[in-house]
Amino acid sequence: MNFELKTFDLAGVAEEKCDALIVLLNQTFKPGKDVLSKLVAQALKAGDLETKPGKVLMIYQPVGLACSRLVLAGIGAGSAEDVRKAVTAATAAAKAASVKKLTICFASAPQNETLGTAVMAVAEASYVYTTTKSKPEGRVIQQVLVGGPTAALFKPAFDQAVAAVAGIEFAKEWANRPANYATPTLLAGAAKSLTKFAPIKCDVLGPKEVEKLGMGSFMAVAQGSKEPLRFIVLHYDGAVKSQAPTVLVGKGVTFDSGGISIKPAADMDEMKFDMCGAASVLGVFRALAELKPAINVVGLIAASENLINGSAVKPGDVVTSMSGQTIEILNTDAEGRLVLCDALTYAERFKPRAVVDIATLTGACVVALGAVRSGLFSADDTLAAALLAAGESSSDLCWRMPLDDAYAEGLKTNFADVANVGGRAGGAITAAKFLERFTEKFPWAHLDIAGTAWKSGAAKGATGRPVALLLAYLLASVK
Ligand code: BES
Ligand code: MN
Ligand code: ZN
Repeated sequence: MNFELKTFDLAGVAEEKCDALIVLLNQTFKPGKDVLSKLVAQALKAGDLETKPGKVLMIYQPVGLACSRLVLAGIGAGSAEDVRKAVTAATAAAKAASVKKLTICFASAPQNETLGTAVMAVAEASYVYTTTKSKPEGRVIQQVLVGGPTAALFKPAFDQAVAAVAGIEFAKEWANRPANYATPTLLAGAAKSLTKFAPIKCDVLGPKEVEKLGMGSFMAVAQGSKEPLRFIVLHYDGAVKSQAPTVLVGKGVTFDSGGISIKPAADMDEMKFDMCGAASVLGVFRALAELKPAINVVGLIAASENLINGSAVKPGDVVTSMSGQTIEILNTDAEGRLVLCDALTYAERFKPRAVVDIATLTGACVVALGAVRSGLFSADDTLAAALLAAGESSSDLCWRMPLDDAYAEGLKTNFADVANVGGRAGGAITAAKFLERFTEKFPWAHLDIAGTAWKSGAAKGATGRPVALLLAYLLASVK
Protein backbone atom coordinates (compact mmCIF):
# COMPACT_ATOMS: atom_id res chain seq x y z
CA MET A 1 0.00 0.00 0.00
CA ASN A 2 1.23 3.42 -1.00
CA PHE A 3 0.69 6.56 1.10
CA GLU A 4 0.93 10.21 0.15
CA LEU A 5 0.42 13.39 2.16
CA LYS A 6 -1.26 16.50 0.75
CA THR A 7 -2.57 19.79 2.04
CA PHE A 8 -6.14 20.54 0.93
CA ASP A 9 -9.33 22.09 2.24
CA LEU A 10 -12.81 20.83 1.36
CA ALA A 11 -12.96 22.93 -1.82
CA GLY A 12 -9.60 21.51 -2.89
CA VAL A 13 -10.30 17.89 -2.09
CA ALA A 14 -13.49 18.05 -4.16
CA GLU A 15 -11.21 18.08 -7.23
CA GLU A 16 -9.29 14.92 -6.24
CA LYS A 17 -10.00 12.03 -8.60
CA CYS A 18 -10.30 8.79 -6.63
CA ASP A 19 -12.50 5.71 -6.18
CA ALA A 20 -13.55 6.92 -2.75
CA LEU A 21 -13.12 10.06 -0.71
CA ILE A 22 -13.43 9.76 3.06
CA VAL A 23 -14.13 13.06 4.79
CA LEU A 24 -13.56 13.11 8.57
CA LEU A 25 -15.94 15.45 10.33
CA ASN A 26 -15.39 16.88 13.73
CA GLN A 27 -18.45 17.63 15.94
CA THR A 28 -17.66 21.36 15.73
CA PHE A 29 -17.52 21.31 11.92
CA LYS A 30 -18.48 24.69 10.38
CA PRO A 31 -19.51 24.35 6.73
CA GLY A 32 -17.96 26.76 4.22
CA LYS A 33 -19.39 27.80 0.85
CA ASP A 34 -17.96 24.93 -1.24
CA VAL A 35 -20.01 22.08 -2.73
CA LEU A 36 -18.78 19.48 -0.26
CA SER A 37 -19.53 21.69 2.77
CA LYS A 38 -23.05 22.27 1.49
CA LEU A 39 -23.61 18.56 1.02
CA VAL A 40 -22.37 17.83 4.57
CA ALA A 41 -24.54 20.60 6.03
CA GLN A 42 -27.62 19.19 4.27
CA ALA A 43 -26.94 15.62 5.39
CA LEU A 44 -26.42 16.76 8.99
CA LYS A 45 -29.60 18.80 8.92
CA ALA A 46 -31.62 15.92 7.47
CA GLY A 47 -30.30 13.62 10.19
CA ASP A 48 -28.73 11.25 7.62
CA LEU A 49 -25.30 12.04 9.04
CA GLU A 50 -24.00 12.26 12.61
CA THR A 51 -20.55 13.33 13.74
CA LYS A 52 -20.44 10.49 16.32
CA PRO A 53 -17.32 8.36 15.68
CA GLY A 54 -18.17 5.16 13.80
CA LYS A 55 -21.19 6.66 11.95
CA VAL A 56 -20.71 6.84 8.18
CA LEU A 57 -22.77 7.95 5.19
CA MET A 58 -21.79 6.81 1.70
CA ILE A 59 -22.89 8.71 -1.40
CA TYR A 60 -22.42 7.35 -4.94
CA GLN A 61 -21.22 9.73 -7.68
CA PRO A 62 -21.81 12.92 -5.74
CA VAL A 63 -22.58 15.85 -8.03
CA GLY A 64 -19.80 18.42 -8.31
CA LEU A 65 -17.09 16.15 -6.85
CA ALA A 66 -14.32 14.32 -8.74
CA CYS A 67 -14.53 11.16 -6.57
CA SER A 68 -16.67 8.15 -7.52
CA ARG A 69 -17.85 7.67 -3.95
CA LEU A 70 -17.99 9.96 -0.97
CA VAL A 71 -17.88 8.56 2.57
CA LEU A 72 -18.73 11.06 5.28
CA ALA A 73 -17.48 9.90 8.66
CA GLY A 74 -17.90 11.49 12.08
CA ILE A 75 -14.89 11.81 14.40
CA GLY A 76 -16.70 13.38 17.36
CA ALA A 77 -14.19 15.33 19.44
CA GLY A 78 -11.38 14.17 17.16
CA SER A 79 -9.30 12.09 19.61
CA ALA A 80 -7.00 9.38 18.25
CA GLU A 81 -9.52 6.72 19.27
CA ASP A 82 -12.34 8.65 17.53
CA VAL A 83 -10.29 8.87 14.34
CA ARG A 84 -9.42 5.18 14.50
CA LYS A 85 -13.08 4.22 14.85
CA ALA A 86 -14.14 6.51 12.00
CA VAL A 87 -11.45 5.42 9.56
CA THR A 88 -12.10 1.75 10.36
CA ALA A 89 -15.83 2.11 9.65
CA ALA A 90 -15.30 4.25 6.53
CA THR A 91 -12.66 1.88 5.14
CA ALA A 92 -15.01 -1.06 5.63
CA ALA A 93 -17.61 0.80 3.54
CA ALA A 94 -15.03 1.63 0.86
CA LYS A 95 -13.63 -1.92 0.85
CA ALA A 96 -17.05 -3.38 0.06
CA ALA A 97 -17.06 -1.26 -3.10
CA SER A 98 -13.62 -2.54 -4.20
CA VAL A 99 -11.92 0.80 -3.99
CA LYS A 100 -8.32 0.93 -5.24
CA LYS A 101 -7.55 4.60 -4.90
CA LEU A 102 -8.63 6.23 -1.66
CA THR A 103 -8.43 9.78 -0.35
CA ILE A 104 -8.83 10.63 3.33
CA CYS A 105 -9.44 14.24 4.23
CA PHE A 106 -9.66 15.85 7.66
CA ALA A 107 -12.31 18.57 7.32
CA SER A 108 -10.60 20.57 10.08
CA ALA A 109 -6.88 20.55 10.93
CA PRO A 110 -6.03 17.22 12.68
CA GLN A 111 -4.08 16.90 15.93
CA ASN A 112 -0.49 15.92 15.34
CA GLU A 113 -0.88 12.24 16.19
CA THR A 114 -4.34 11.69 14.71
CA LEU A 115 -3.01 12.00 11.16
CA GLY A 116 -0.78 9.04 11.99
CA THR A 117 -3.74 7.25 13.53
CA ALA A 118 -5.66 7.62 10.25
CA VAL A 119 -2.75 6.11 8.31
CA MET A 120 -2.43 3.16 10.67
CA ALA A 121 -6.20 2.59 10.85
CA VAL A 122 -6.70 2.42 7.07
CA ALA A 123 -3.82 -0.06 6.82
CA GLU A 124 -5.26 -2.16 9.65
CA ALA A 125 -8.77 -2.15 8.17
CA SER A 126 -7.58 -3.20 4.70
CA TYR A 127 -4.90 -5.75 5.66
CA VAL A 128 -5.30 -9.25 4.18
CA TYR A 129 -3.16 -12.30 4.98
CA THR A 130 -2.61 -14.45 1.86
CA THR A 131 0.61 -16.46 2.22
CA THR A 132 -0.94 -19.88 2.77
CA LYS A 133 -4.04 -19.50 0.57
CA SER A 134 -4.00 -21.35 -2.76
CA LYS A 135 -5.92 -18.57 -4.55
CA PRO A 136 -4.81 -15.44 -2.79
CA GLU A 137 -7.16 -12.48 -2.89
CA GLY A 138 -4.98 -9.67 -1.65
CA ARG A 139 -5.63 -6.19 -0.44
CA VAL A 140 -7.87 -4.09 -2.68
CA ILE A 141 -6.92 -0.58 -1.56
CA GLN A 142 -3.58 0.27 -3.16
CA GLN A 143 -3.15 4.03 -3.00
CA VAL A 144 -4.05 6.29 -0.12
CA LEU A 145 -3.83 10.06 -0.23
CA VAL A 146 -4.15 11.57 3.26
CA GLY A 147 -4.49 15.22 4.15
CA GLY A 148 -6.40 18.19 5.36
CA PRO A 149 -5.78 21.84 6.05
CA THR A 150 -2.15 22.47 7.18
CA ALA A 151 -1.33 18.78 6.55
CA ALA A 152 2.26 19.67 5.66
CA LEU A 153 2.83 20.52 9.33
CA PHE A 154 2.30 16.89 10.18
CA LYS A 155 4.90 15.43 7.83
CA PRO A 156 7.00 13.88 10.64
CA ALA A 157 3.93 12.20 12.20
CA PHE A 158 2.88 11.01 8.74
CA ASP A 159 6.34 9.57 7.95
CA GLN A 160 6.45 7.81 11.32
CA ALA A 161 3.01 6.28 10.73
CA VAL A 162 3.90 5.08 7.22
CA ALA A 163 7.07 3.47 8.58
CA ALA A 164 5.08 1.95 11.46
CA VAL A 165 2.66 0.43 8.92
CA ALA A 166 5.54 -1.20 7.03
CA GLY A 167 6.81 -2.59 10.36
CA ILE A 168 3.40 -3.68 11.61
CA GLU A 169 2.67 -5.51 8.36
CA PHE A 170 6.03 -7.27 8.40
CA ALA A 171 5.34 -8.35 11.99
CA LYS A 172 1.80 -9.48 11.11
CA GLU A 173 3.00 -11.51 8.14
CA TRP A 174 5.45 -13.53 10.23
CA ALA A 175 3.15 -13.81 13.23
CA ASN A 176 0.20 -15.00 11.12
CA ARG A 177 2.14 -17.70 9.32
CA PRO A 178 1.43 -21.16 10.69
CA ALA A 179 4.28 -22.72 12.66
CA ASN A 180 5.26 -24.95 9.72
CA TYR A 181 5.78 -21.83 7.61
CA ALA A 182 7.57 -19.94 10.39
CA THR A 183 10.09 -22.29 11.98
CA PRO A 184 13.07 -20.85 13.89
CA THR A 185 15.13 -21.30 10.72
CA LEU A 186 12.56 -19.48 8.56
CA LEU A 187 12.30 -16.70 11.15
CA ALA A 188 16.06 -16.28 10.94
CA GLY A 189 15.64 -16.06 7.16
CA ALA A 190 13.11 -13.25 7.65
CA ALA A 191 15.63 -11.40 9.82
CA LYS A 192 18.34 -11.92 7.21
CA SER A 193 16.05 -10.56 4.51
CA LEU A 194 16.07 -7.21 6.33
CA THR A 195 19.78 -6.78 5.60
CA LYS A 196 18.79 -5.63 2.11
CA PHE A 197 18.05 -2.35 3.89
CA ALA A 198 21.19 -0.50 5.01
CA PRO A 199 22.30 -0.06 7.78
CA ILE A 200 20.80 -3.33 9.03
CA LYS A 201 23.07 -6.29 9.74
CA CYS A 202 22.16 -9.74 10.98
CA ASP A 203 23.97 -12.70 12.54
CA VAL A 204 22.30 -16.03 13.17
CA LEU A 205 23.61 -18.51 15.73
CA GLY A 206 22.68 -22.20 15.72
CA PRO A 207 22.71 -24.92 18.40
CA LYS A 208 26.52 -25.29 18.46
CA GLU A 209 27.23 -21.60 19.01
CA VAL A 210 24.45 -21.29 21.55
CA GLU A 211 25.89 -24.24 23.48
CA LYS A 212 29.32 -22.59 23.45
CA LEU A 213 27.77 -19.44 24.94
CA GLY A 214 26.36 -21.59 27.74
CA MET A 215 22.71 -20.84 27.06
CA GLY A 216 21.55 -23.95 28.92
CA SER A 217 18.13 -22.51 29.65
CA PHE A 218 17.29 -21.62 26.04
CA MET A 219 18.65 -25.00 24.88
CA ALA A 220 16.42 -26.86 27.34
CA VAL A 221 13.30 -25.48 25.65
CA ALA A 222 14.52 -26.38 22.16
CA GLN A 223 15.64 -29.93 23.00
CA GLY A 224 12.17 -31.46 22.63
CA SER A 225 11.90 -30.59 18.94
CA LYS A 226 13.67 -31.71 15.79
CA GLU A 227 13.60 -28.10 14.54
CA PRO A 228 16.96 -26.60 15.53
CA LEU A 229 16.91 -23.39 17.58
CA ARG A 230 18.11 -20.06 16.19
CA PHE A 231 19.52 -17.10 18.08
CA ILE A 232 19.10 -14.03 15.90
CA VAL A 233 21.19 -10.87 16.37
CA LEU A 234 20.08 -7.80 14.40
CA HIS A 235 21.94 -4.49 14.28
CA TYR A 236 20.62 -1.16 13.13
CA ASP A 237 23.65 1.18 13.21
CA GLY A 238 22.25 4.60 12.45
CA ALA A 239 24.49 6.61 14.80
CA VAL A 240 28.16 6.76 15.76
CA LYS A 241 29.60 3.65 17.39
CA SER A 242 30.10 5.45 20.71
CA GLN A 243 26.34 5.87 21.16
CA ALA A 244 25.06 3.07 23.41
CA PRO A 245 22.34 1.03 21.67
CA THR A 246 18.85 0.19 22.82
CA VAL A 247 18.43 -3.58 22.80
CA LEU A 248 15.08 -5.17 21.94
CA VAL A 249 14.69 -8.81 22.96
CA GLY A 250 11.88 -10.86 21.42
CA LYS A 251 10.38 -14.17 22.56
CA GLY A 252 10.42 -16.30 19.43
CA VAL A 253 8.67 -19.53 20.43
CA THR A 254 7.36 -20.47 17.00
CA PHE A 255 5.00 -23.00 18.55
CA ASP A 256 4.24 -23.54 22.23
CA SER A 257 2.64 -26.92 22.93
CA GLY A 258 3.55 -26.51 26.59
CA GLY A 259 6.04 -29.38 26.37
CA ILE A 260 5.59 -32.26 28.86
CA SER A 261 3.39 -29.86 30.91
CA ILE A 262 1.20 -29.97 27.81
CA LYS A 263 -1.54 -27.46 27.07
CA PRO A 264 -5.20 -28.41 26.56
CA ALA A 265 -6.23 -28.97 22.91
CA ALA A 266 -8.71 -26.09 22.66
CA ASP A 267 -7.21 -23.09 20.83
CA MET A 268 -3.74 -24.61 20.89
CA ASP A 269 -3.35 -23.47 17.27
CA GLU A 270 -3.07 -19.94 18.64
CA MET A 271 0.29 -20.85 20.13
CA LYS A 272 1.76 -20.28 16.67
CA PHE A 273 1.50 -16.64 17.81
CA ASP A 274 3.97 -17.29 20.63
CA MET A 275 6.64 -15.60 18.51
CA CYS A 276 4.81 -12.27 18.35
CA GLY A 277 7.49 -10.64 20.52
CA ALA A 278 10.08 -11.72 17.96
CA ALA A 279 7.83 -10.56 15.12
CA SER A 280 7.55 -7.14 16.74
CA VAL A 281 11.36 -6.87 16.86
CA LEU A 282 11.51 -7.73 13.14
CA GLY A 283 8.76 -5.18 12.52
CA VAL A 284 10.63 -2.43 14.34
CA PHE A 285 13.72 -3.07 12.21
CA ARG A 286 11.57 -2.96 9.07
CA ALA A 287 10.21 0.43 10.23
CA LEU A 288 13.69 1.74 11.07
CA ALA A 289 14.73 0.82 7.54
CA GLU A 290 12.05 3.22 6.25
CA LEU A 291 12.83 6.12 8.57
CA LYS A 292 16.61 5.80 8.99
CA PRO A 293 16.85 7.64 12.32
CA ALA A 294 20.29 8.43 13.83
CA ILE A 295 20.16 5.82 16.60
CA ASN A 296 21.68 2.44 17.35
CA VAL A 297 19.42 -0.52 17.98
CA VAL A 298 20.20 -4.19 18.58
CA GLY A 299 17.51 -6.83 18.16
CA LEU A 300 17.87 -10.23 19.83
CA ILE A 301 15.50 -13.09 19.08
CA ALA A 302 15.55 -16.43 20.84
CA ALA A 303 13.68 -18.68 18.41
CA SER A 304 12.67 -22.26 19.10
CA GLU A 305 9.71 -24.60 19.29
CA ASN A 306 8.40 -25.86 22.63
CA LEU A 307 7.51 -29.46 21.74
CA ILE A 308 7.62 -32.96 23.17
CA ASN A 309 9.81 -35.76 21.94
CA GLY A 310 11.89 -38.34 23.82
CA SER A 311 14.54 -35.76 24.62
CA ALA A 312 12.15 -33.10 25.87
CA VAL A 313 13.01 -31.36 29.11
CA LYS A 314 11.09 -32.79 32.10
CA PRO A 315 9.46 -31.10 35.08
CA GLY A 316 12.05 -31.05 37.84
CA ASP A 317 15.04 -30.86 35.50
CA VAL A 318 17.64 -28.30 36.55
CA VAL A 319 19.48 -26.33 33.86
CA THR A 320 22.29 -23.79 34.00
CA SER A 321 21.60 -20.46 32.33
CA MET A 322 24.22 -18.34 30.57
CA SER A 323 24.31 -16.12 33.68
CA GLY A 324 25.47 -19.10 35.74
CA GLN A 325 22.23 -19.21 37.72
CA THR A 326 20.66 -22.64 37.90
CA ILE A 327 16.95 -23.01 37.16
CA GLU A 328 14.58 -25.75 38.23
CA ILE A 329 12.04 -26.21 35.43
CA LEU A 330 8.91 -27.04 37.41
CA ASN A 331 6.60 -26.34 34.47
CA THR A 332 7.80 -26.82 30.89
CA ASP A 333 5.01 -24.50 29.73
CA ALA A 334 6.71 -21.55 31.42
CA GLU A 335 9.25 -21.65 28.57
CA GLY A 336 9.19 -18.02 27.48
CA ARG A 337 11.18 -16.86 30.49
CA LEU A 338 13.64 -19.71 29.87
CA VAL A 339 14.47 -18.56 26.35
CA LEU A 340 14.45 -14.88 27.32
CA CYS A 341 16.75 -15.08 30.34
CA ASP A 342 19.71 -16.22 28.22
CA ALA A 343 18.99 -13.56 25.61
CA LEU A 344 18.95 -10.93 28.39
CA THR A 345 22.35 -12.12 29.61
CA TYR A 346 23.64 -11.95 26.03
CA ALA A 347 22.45 -8.30 25.87
CA GLU A 348 25.05 -7.30 28.49
CA ARG A 349 27.84 -7.31 25.88
CA PHE A 350 26.32 -4.30 24.10
CA LYS A 351 26.52 -2.08 27.23
CA PRO A 352 23.01 -0.90 26.34
CA ARG A 353 21.34 2.36 27.38
CA ALA A 354 18.21 0.26 27.88
CA VAL A 355 16.92 -3.24 27.20
CA VAL A 356 13.26 -3.90 26.43
CA ASP A 357 12.01 -7.45 26.09
CA ILE A 358 8.74 -8.20 24.32
CA ALA A 359 6.95 -11.48 24.96
CA THR A 360 3.62 -13.29 24.83
CA LEU A 361 4.62 -14.43 28.26
CA THR A 362 1.62 -15.21 30.47
CA GLY A 363 -2.06 -16.06 30.31
CA ALA A 364 -2.21 -14.17 33.62
CA CYS A 365 -1.47 -10.91 31.80
CA VAL A 366 -4.45 -11.56 29.51
CA VAL A 367 -6.61 -11.95 32.61
CA ALA A 368 -5.21 -8.76 34.15
CA LEU A 369 -5.30 -6.37 31.19
CA GLY A 370 -7.28 -8.04 28.41
CA ALA A 371 -6.65 -7.04 24.80
CA VAL A 372 -6.50 -3.28 25.37
CA ARG A 373 -3.16 -2.62 27.06
CA SER A 374 0.08 -4.58 27.13
CA GLY A 375 1.65 -5.19 30.53
CA LEU A 376 4.67 -2.98 31.26
CA PHE A 377 7.14 -3.99 33.95
CA SER A 378 10.17 -1.93 34.92
CA ALA A 379 11.94 -0.88 38.08
CA ASP A 380 13.29 2.14 36.18
CA ASP A 381 10.80 5.04 36.43
CA THR A 382 12.33 7.02 33.56
CA LEU A 383 12.24 4.07 31.19
CA ALA A 384 8.71 3.14 32.28
CA ALA A 385 7.50 6.71 31.74
CA ALA A 386 9.08 6.83 28.28
CA LEU A 387 7.39 3.57 27.23
CA LEU A 388 4.02 4.63 28.64
CA ALA A 389 4.24 7.94 26.76
CA ALA A 390 5.26 6.19 23.54
CA GLY A 391 2.22 3.95 23.89
CA GLU A 392 -0.12 6.92 24.28
CA SER A 393 1.36 8.87 21.35
CA SER A 394 1.14 5.88 19.01
CA SER A 395 -2.25 4.56 20.22
CA ASP A 396 -0.48 1.32 21.18
CA LEU A 397 -1.22 1.36 24.89
CA CYS A 398 0.47 -0.31 27.84
CA TRP A 399 -0.01 -0.21 31.60
CA ARG A 400 2.60 -0.33 34.33
CA MET A 401 2.49 -3.28 36.72
CA PRO A 402 4.27 -3.68 40.08
CA LEU A 403 7.56 -5.47 40.70
CA ASP A 404 7.73 -5.76 44.50
CA ASP A 405 10.26 -8.33 45.67
CA ALA A 406 7.53 -10.09 47.64
CA TYR A 407 6.18 -11.32 44.28
CA ALA A 408 9.33 -13.42 43.84
CA GLU A 409 8.72 -15.53 46.97
CA GLY A 410 7.14 -18.38 45.03
CA LEU A 411 10.20 -18.75 42.80
CA LYS A 412 12.26 -20.18 45.67
CA THR A 413 13.23 -23.84 45.46
CA ASN A 414 15.37 -26.35 47.36
CA PHE A 415 17.02 -27.65 44.20
CA ALA A 416 18.30 -24.66 42.21
CA ASP A 417 18.92 -20.91 42.44
CA VAL A 418 15.42 -20.22 41.17
CA ALA A 419 12.34 -22.09 39.92
CA ASN A 420 10.68 -21.13 36.64
CA VAL A 421 7.16 -20.86 38.12
CA GLY A 422 5.77 -19.49 41.36
CA GLY A 423 2.09 -20.35 41.61
CA ARG A 424 -0.98 -18.97 39.85
CA ALA A 425 -1.59 -15.74 41.75
CA GLY A 426 0.03 -12.69 40.18
CA GLY A 427 1.43 -14.91 37.41
CA ALA A 428 2.38 -12.07 35.05
CA ILE A 429 4.38 -10.42 37.83
CA THR A 430 6.22 -13.55 39.01
CA ALA A 431 7.24 -14.11 35.38
CA ALA A 432 8.63 -10.56 35.29
CA LYS A 433 10.39 -11.11 38.63
CA PHE A 434 12.06 -14.18 37.14
CA LEU A 435 13.34 -12.16 34.17
CA GLU A 436 14.49 -9.30 36.41
CA ARG A 437 17.14 -11.60 37.91
CA PHE A 438 18.96 -11.50 34.58
CA THR A 439 18.93 -7.71 34.10
CA GLU A 440 21.23 -6.35 36.80
CA LYS A 441 23.67 -4.78 34.33
CA PHE A 442 21.31 -2.37 32.49
CA PRO A 443 18.04 -0.42 32.72
CA TRP A 444 15.36 -2.91 31.74
CA ALA A 445 11.69 -3.07 30.86
CA HIS A 446 9.48 -6.00 29.96
CA LEU A 447 6.34 -5.87 27.81
CA ASP A 448 3.93 -8.78 28.25
CA ILE A 449 1.91 -8.75 25.01
CA ALA A 450 0.02 -12.02 25.57
CA GLY A 451 -3.32 -10.18 25.42
CA THR A 452 -2.54 -7.62 22.71
CA ALA A 453 -0.43 -9.40 20.09
CA TRP A 454 -3.26 -11.21 18.35
CA LYS A 455 -7.03 -11.45 18.12
CA SER A 456 -9.04 -14.68 18.48
CA GLY A 457 -12.38 -15.65 16.96
CA ALA A 458 -13.63 -14.60 13.53
CA ALA A 459 -11.01 -11.84 13.27
CA LYS A 460 -8.22 -14.23 14.31
CA GLY A 461 -4.88 -12.72 13.40
CA ALA A 462 -1.84 -10.83 14.59
CA THR A 463 -2.18 -7.15 15.47
CA GLY A 464 1.42 -6.10 14.88
CA ARG A 465 1.54 -4.68 18.39
CA PRO A 466 3.68 -3.25 19.94
CA VAL A 467 5.65 -2.16 16.84
CA ALA A 468 4.13 1.35 16.89
CA LEU A 469 4.88 1.75 20.61
CA LEU A 470 8.49 0.61 20.26
CA LEU A 471 9.10 2.78 17.22
CA ALA A 472 7.68 5.84 19.03
CA TYR A 473 9.88 5.02 22.04
CA LEU A 474 13.04 4.70 19.94
CA LEU A 475 12.38 7.89 17.99
CA ALA A 476 11.66 9.86 21.16
CA SER A 477 14.95 8.63 22.62
CA VAL A 478 16.92 10.76 20.11
CA LYS A 479 14.76 13.88 20.25
N1 BES B 1 2.82 -18.60 25.64
C1 BES B 1 2.25 -18.84 26.91
C2 BES B 1 1.47 -17.64 27.43
C3 BES B 1 0.13 -17.41 26.79
C4 BES B 1 -0.94 -18.22 27.09
C5 BES B 1 -0.06 -16.35 25.95
C6 BES B 1 -2.17 -17.96 26.53
C7 BES B 1 -1.29 -16.08 25.41
C8 BES B 1 -2.36 -16.90 25.69
C9 BES B 1 3.35 -19.12 27.92
O1 BES B 1 4.45 -19.81 27.44
C10 BES B 1 2.73 -19.97 28.98
O2 BES B 1 2.36 -21.06 28.67
N2 BES B 1 2.65 -19.45 30.19
C11 BES B 1 2.05 -20.16 31.27
C12 BES B 1 2.89 -19.93 32.49
C13 BES B 1 2.49 -20.80 33.64
C14 BES B 1 2.85 -22.23 33.35
C15 BES B 1 3.21 -20.32 34.89
C16 BES B 1 0.63 -19.61 31.45
O3 BES B 1 0.44 -18.40 31.30
O4 BES B 1 -0.25 -20.40 31.71
MN1 MN C 1 4.18 -21.89 27.46
ZN1 ZN D 1 4.84 -19.56 25.48
